[in-house]
Amino acid sequence: MKILYFSASGNTEAFVNKLKDYGDQQHQVDSTKQTIELMRIEDESSFDIIEEPFVAFVPTYLDGGNGLDNGTQEIITNTLGEFIEYKDNSKRLLGVVGSGNRNFNWQYCLTAKQYAQKFSVPFLADYELRGTQADCDKIYTILQKVFSK
Ligand SMILES: Cc1cc2nc3c(=O)[nH]c(=O)nc-3n(C[C@H](O)[C@H](O)[C@H](O)COP(=O)(O)O)c2cc1C
Repeated sequence: MKILYFSASGNTEAFVNKLKDYGDQQHQVDSTKQTIELMRIEDESSFDIIEEPFVAFVPTYLDGGNGLDNGTQEIITNTLGEFIEYKDNSKRLLGVVGSGNRNFNWQYCLTAKQYAQKFSVPFLADYELRGTQADCDKIYTILQKVFSK
């Protein structure tokens, strides 16, 4: 199960690594359970064609704004969106998982919701900061369903 992700301060990186370890453990117990392949997108990444179905994990970074009628403009994570837009990559995007911080209230995980809308795919799940083990279990189960369709 291929995951493309962006991580500026390491939280998403920590969570997807936890998810990959969990997938490896699940696969060892039951070989029908799929493992996870990670691909980190960074500002320096050169655009490439993704041949297989994938899911995107994106944290939320939005410009200041007043939290009411503005402040929804994506910053920092843009390269991931551009990577998905490259050639036909978006056709292989199965869904988006978002992360953020609930202190941002209604802006919580908004970038992932914006991606889901923009690319017409489901917003699959959310988790806060580095996520919990319960988030890991839940999201692995969701990914299994999404990738087996
Ligand atoms: C400048 C800045 C803006 C942020 N804006 C939002 C936001 O609008 N909504 C949200 O849910 N989280 C917001 N966050 C929280 C981050 O999404 C959260 O810390 C996330 O785990 C960062 O992931 P990363 O460490 O993989 O980059 C913001 C964090 C920073 C530093």
